[in-house]
Amino acid sequence: MSNASVNECGYRAFSLGAYKFVRDEYFAHITWPGGSHTISVDRFLRALMRDVAWNFFYGTVNFDEVFGTTNHYGTVDVFAGLYNAGFRERNKQFVEALNGDHVRSTFLEMLEDWTNEGFDPFAAPEETGTPFGPKRGSNLSAVRRNRVVAKRMVGLKGDTPLRSDADGNPVNRQFTDVDQSEPEVHAEPGFEGEVHAFNFFAYLSRSDVTWNPSITSAVKDSLLCPTTEEYMLPIIHGNDRVEWFVQLSDEIHWDVQDRESGAPRARVVMKAGDVTAMPADIRHQGYSPKRSMLLVWENADPALPDLYAKKRLRPNPVDF
Ligand code: PHB
Ligand code: FE
Repeated sequence: MSNASVNECGYRAFSLGAYKFVRDEYFAHITWPGGSHTISVDRFLRALMRDVAWNFFYGTVNFDEVFGTTNHYGTVDVFAGLYNAGFRERNKQFVEALNGDHVRSTFLEMLEDWTNEGFDPFAAPEETGTPFGPKRGSNLSAVRRNRVVAKRMVGLKGDTPLRSDADGNPVNRQFTDVDQSEPEVHAEPGFEGEVHAFNFFAYLSRSDVTWNPSITSAVKDSLLCPTTEEYMLPIIHGNDRVEWFVQLSDEIHWDVQDRESGAPRARVVMKAGDVTAMPADIRHQGYSPKRSMLLVWENADPALPDLYAKKRLRPNPVDF
């Protein structure tokens, strides 16, 4: 089927390298030479949204136990069964290295065509409509949303703005108890343009998306990426560097597995105030029973994946 024609449910089919993607009322179906796979379309669209918005993120974005992408920062490996012990045992994995821009534009077209009116893949399930059923309109403003990326820090002149009721960012229903007062800044004369502060909790309480770390401050490669979480991380992230997590409110339960095989390694229950260093050789998925605030601290140094791959750095930054 060509990319322009639609099926009986009203959805376009897509091809990418040797992969073919079709959706029906409930499922995304993926086929490749030698195999096929089915993913519930709510899970598929939520994962696809993040892969597109994050430009393939750091390392591996597993949509589920079978399908996903690994970022090589220019090219992208699109794989099926590559990080699945069962596929690997029978040598049934399939992987294609493709141009990143091409994968991203194809994924965005698919996301735009397959997302129905009223469904926002970034929203918590309680705060959005259904993705299921035959094609019904679209939600382009939601799926084309850009991630917040501060150049230096949120709220600085010329940088990404603070959030308010007036600009359409109300306090989330689960964060109505968060103090909204802003800090007072008293700079010495001559330093007025160099001192800045804002209420981080108030800023986060007004986020309308979930599982979407945004860059709120950048000092060289040190990126503070807070995010508000509710329900589950719709991908299983395979790290290519260490990530530090600080649980700012409520709690998140994490499944931590071996990055290559998916074998279980740890269960981590993080409560407000807890800090973890997620190793560079794991994959993880988080579950947030109530909306919570999580600070993800990323080191964006492009040399890191190679240093870990060559074992020049240990995958865990601290020993206890
Ligand atoms: C992660 O994989 O480290 C991750 C991704 C998205 C989040 C939080 C953590 O919202
Ligand atoms: Fe991660």
